[in-house]
Amino acid sequence: RIGYIRGEFVPLTKASIPVMDRGFLFGDGVYEVTAVIEGRLVDDAAHLARLERSLKEIGIVNPHTASQWTRLEEEIVRRNKLTNGLIYLQVTRGVAERAFKYKDGLVPTVVVFPQFSPVQYNPLTKTGARIITVPDLRWARCDIKSTSLLAQVLAKHAASQAEVSEAWMMRDDVITEGASSTAYIVTQHGDLVTRALSHETLPGITRQTLLRIAQDLKLRIVERPFTRQEVLDAREVFYTSASTIAIPVVEMDGVPVGGTKPGPVFEALYATYMQEVM
Ligand code: PDD
Repeated sequence: RIGYIRGEFVPLTKASIPVMDRGFLFGDGVYEVTAVIEGRLVDDAAHLARLERSLKEIGIVNPHTASQWTRLEEEIVRRNKLTNGLIYLQVTRGVAERAFKYKDGLVPTVVVFPQFSPVQYNPLTKTGARIITVPDLRWARCDIKSTSLLAQVLAKHAASQAEVSEAWMMRDDVITEGASSTAYIVTQHGDLVTRALSHETLPGITRQTLLRIAQDLKLRIVERPFTRQEVLDAREVFYTSASTIAIPVVEMDGVPVGGTKPGPVFEALYATYMQEVM
């Protein structure tokens, strides 16, 4: 695999980052994950806009313009002959002697690399996934796509121990979002429910596109928090992310939810989404 690491295209096995990088020492950085389907970047402009916002929120000057980023990503796609998978990109504040406070003007560390994964051939799209709920242990700015991901690492480990695909995080009895995905239900009244954007969740790019499609399909969208009990009572349950696109949920904490197979709302949204990106 060829990555773009600190200004150079190099095989990932040959790449290294200095120990004093603040990303390594403090998790002082942000990232993006963009799907590549049939060689094309999915919603690239929206991902780069979110990157710009994340950087701004933590006071790092974006080292590249959007078109420079796109050229870098396309070069990674080309050099790796990536047809289906993901582009991971990360920007950290840079390298400096370890101290919490930072000096302005550090040179941000940029890393871009591909991941080969069957994004649009995920078998879970057809079979549905099992999930668990876990407490949301994260900080108060979950809208920033920070590389400080310890809470999500622990949530995903719990999911893996339970042999399920995703963990949905909860504050009190309310679902915030998946450890790496946006959460949705379709109520018995047919409302498509997902949380409104706030500091408590990541503004998902797949969410943005999916809600636009839902609007085109004349679905009733309700942006509000929902509880664990509402998931148990829902007609359909699913989650979205760049790395999975959209996955229906058929079991939560060992209890069947949302029917035994992908529901009609999910199917319509997913089919339209794939039509648009193919
Ligand atoms: N995660 N919520 C969280 C906490 C996430 O980490 C992600 C994505 C999403 C979905 O956002 P999007 O549709 O823009 O991918 C929601 C990526 C895939 C990751 O960390 O690997």
